[in-house]
Amino acid sequence: MHNLKRSEIKALVNTTDYDRDVHVKAWVRTKRGSKHVAFVALNDGTTIQNLQVVVDFDKIPESKLLDVQTGASVSVSGRLVESKGSRQNVELLAEELDVLGKADPNEYPLQPKKHSLEFLREKAHLRFRTNTFGAVTRVRHAMIFAIHKFFNDRGFYNIHTPIITGSDAEGAGEMFHVTALDLSNPPRDEKGGIDFTKDFFGKETNLTVSGQLEAELAALAMSKVYTFGPTFRAENSNTSRHLAEFWMVEPEMAFCDIHDNMDLAEEMMQYLVSYALDHCMEDLEFLDKRFADEESRKKKEDRASMGLIERLKFVTGNTFERITYTEAQDVLKNSKPNKKGKFTYAVDDWGVDFQSEHERYLVEKHYQKPVMVTDYPRDIKAFYMKQNDDGKTVRALDVLFPQIGEIIGGSQREENYDKLYGRIREMDIPEESMWWYLETRKFGTVVHSGYGLGFERLLLFVTGMGNIRDVIPFPRTPKNAEF
Ligand code: 4AD
Ligand code: MG
Repeated sequence: MHNLKRSEIKALVNTTDYDRDVHVKAWVRTKRGSKHVAFVALNDGTTIQNLQVVVDFDKIPESKLLDVQTGASVSVSGRLVESKGSRQNVELLAEELDVLGKADPNEYPLQPKKHSLEFLREKAHLRFRTNTFGAVTRVRHAMIFAIHKFFNDRGFYNIHTPIITGSDAEGAGEMFHVTALDLSNPPRDEKGGIDFTKDFFGKETNLTVSGQLEAELAALAMSKVYTFGPTFRAENSNTSRHLAEFWMVEPEMAFCDIHDNMDLAEEMMQYLVSYALDHCMEDLEFLDKRFADEESRKKKEDRASMGLIERLKFVTGNTFERITYTEAQDVLKNSKPNKKGKFTYAVDDWGVDFQSEHERYLVEKHYQKPVMVTDYPRDIKAFYMKQNDDGKTVRALDVLFPQIGEIIGGSQREENYDKLYGRIREMDIPEESMWWYLETRKFGTVVHSGYGLGFERLLLFVTGMGNIRDVIPFPRTPKNAEF
């Protein structure tokens, strides 16, 4: 019977087409047994559901089950029947069973019990085999697919922007160097500094912090483009929302101002959340229970006001609030927690950036819906943002989400050559790394806008996981690049 074509467990657990012979290959999650039979739960990653295999010792000698242990891979053939148990629709009555790869129970780290997320991070090579990471991995895939579908359906072109660049798109100086120089003996220039003209690219290069600048070049010819690639930031923030290597979705549109930009951001977020609700319900139901369980262990005042699925539906059912930085600052300044000194960072002077506690207050307490904040003070935002006539603010856009805070950052871009050039000089950005960017403002410049969605922040929201290290397979964070 092993010569039957292999079925995937997803297709079997949801079928009503019983009483036929099937063949599966998968990994053992649990084994329990009695004198005459054993029940083996198998999972092959195609679904959160396990397939229950019933092994009757009259058919398969009990000795064959010695190596059927949690973590082992097996090949099983037999009859698929309707299950009498209430926990599953079907079960597989084994006729043939072979162990493909053993897993010694004294060595295999994943026991059939709940492990902490911290422990599983140290076992990232195996954590795909847990219910939680299986679910997160499937949802992550669904969201990648939905992003490409969303933009493709709307006539956007996907652009691959470079990973190695010579510029700092955000001007924040948080870059990882890329070099082929011998670091123990680098070539020196006259002043004793490192001579990067001798380096691989003949100049100093780094890993990109954003594909935006190159996406702009493409948008200023193709009208609507997006890039979805890895980005790298050497910021030393060890928080539950920061990674050193993360993925960013960056649409860029010509003939598009800040209002069109907000419309797209809102439409995209609602689309992605709806897509998850429509296509990932089994996994979301599991993650919803997990989320409720985690929340119940928190102090009452720290608990989320909504369950996971509830908050997803809440986003699809609500329009986003649109306010300016100045309005938001006013709300925060006059808020109860500010007056009572409850914020770690008091809100006082206009011009200071918000902290995530402030963003969450606006979203979760004050407006009780996602909030889009525009027109930030220009001194706290990047050089490329469109300058407003007031001389103080820029056409920035941040989208704030419950529990996450900032999930999207973007802006209308400065399309006026002189203003952009002035800002580059003012901020001491090396002109020679920006000549090509500036030239687009010289030749057929137009109003244009775009934004960046932090893909892992989206996943935090959709999966309800509390730490960004648990929504990317192999997180890169300060002092951690294992696997
Ligand atoms: O706000 P940011 O820095 O904006 C840009 O990079 C623009 N160039 C985007 C654009 O307009 N095309 O980053 C955008 C988003 C943030 O809102 C956040 O969701 C995410 O990227 N992000 C991070 N995610 C994980 N780890 C980090 N260290 C992140 N830094 C930013
Ligand atoms: Mg930002």
